Amino acid sequence: MDGHSTTAPTAIEKIIAFVDERVGLKKIQAKMLNEPVPGGSRWAYVFGSCLLFIFIMQAVTGILLMFYYVPSADHAYASTQYIIHEVDYGWFLLSYHFWGSTAMVVMVFAHMSQVFLWGAYKKPREMIWLAGLALFGIVMAFGFTGYLLPWDQRAYWATTVGVEIMDKTPVVGDFLARFLKGGPTPGQMTLSRFFVIHVMVLPATLMGLAGLHIFLFRKAGPAGPFRGSDEELKAKTDYFFPRQIWKDIVAMGAVFATICSLAFIEPVVLLEEATPDPGEYHPEPEWYFLFLFQLLRLKMFAGEFGQFLGAIALPGLFMALLAALPFIDRSPERNIFKRPVALVGWILVMIGILVFTVSAIINREFLD
Ligand code: HEM
Repeated sequence: MDGHSTTAPTAIEKIIAFVDERVGLKKIQAKMLNEPVPGGSRWAYVFGSCLLFIFIMQAVTGILLMFYYVPSADHAYASTQYIIHEVDYGWFLLSYHFWGSTAMVVMVFAHMSQVFLWGAYKKPREMIWLAGLALFGIVMAFGFTGYLLPWDQRAYWATTVGVEIMDKTPVVGDFLARFLKGGPTPGQMTLSRFFVIHVMVLPATLMGLAGLHIFLFRKAGPAGPFRGSDEELKAKTDYFFPRQIWKDIVAMGAVFATICSLAFIEPVVLLEEATPDPGEYHPEPEWYFLFLFQLLRLKMFAGEFGQFLGAIALPGLFMALLAALPFIDRSPERNIFKRPVALVGWILVMIGILVFTVSAIINREFLD
């Protein structure tokens, strides 16, 4: 033995070297993993990666469901029942997809809250924030369009109420409502359009926007913590790999385990097949629209104008305020404890959403 003998590369190593020479894998890997994280890795930064993970799982489970689901008014309900009762693990797949959508909404609120409280929307990250707001709209649209697909009473009536509300939007409302419904009452055209939007338009838009969002994020670099001097932050700075990646993976594992548990504990159960007669059923939207539904029950929002005010004008103004935020709030101060208006505003919005959602649930128990 001369002590210099080297082992021959394995077949896998040879394949990696072959691809690397042509694609530049190692450069891509280094660029992706060696992103500096100012101030070091944190659990607070896991929400964006978790959102990507949930979306990928929604796409996988959604594609599997499409192997059995029939998007026609005559067969949508029966094919969904078939998935639940006949297809091996079909009930689990559908329930995972259902709870995955809830997880996506919860996670988008968590991610938005984190970047808001950290002041990460401020210069030079205004465009990341704006692309994020568009992504928020896409996530909500996924929920709204997916809700109709099982074609049971819950689906039919939530959509009827939702489209009626949309109709109240000035200028585009009438067109939007007619386009979505495709007829005087929800029917085949409504289902076809919601299906195409849910499985084609929204996923493609989300992928494009998420790509832009992450490209802009990489361009600006992570905002990092809102406290600490430049020297302190530099000293603690870490790379994305391995510590932040591990935190992201642990969080994704926890999200996956939670969605699986919810699918087992509370699997999807359909109501009666959709009919244009609500009978005993009280129409109600998905839980994340419940606060808006409850808001509309307030006396001040009664009548045609009141409904417009509560359902369209107020949420529209709120979204416009969020879009304008990085341009109104120009102070470079990011410490949330030195931004009392932002902190109190966030707390009030959270309390408002919580109170209205809980009172809608109590109201539902009462009506039932
Ligand atoms: C499907 C929806 C979304 C996905 C997949 C997504 C993904 C990501 C990812 C992977 C990052 C990198 C760092 C991190 O995880 O914190 C990020 C950062 C960011 N996101 Fe999102 N995001 C989404 C929605 C939103 C929304 C709704 C907003 C706000 C309106 C937003 C605003 C931001 C901002 C400002 C940053 C920069 C954070 C920093 O520099 O620390 N994102 N997003």
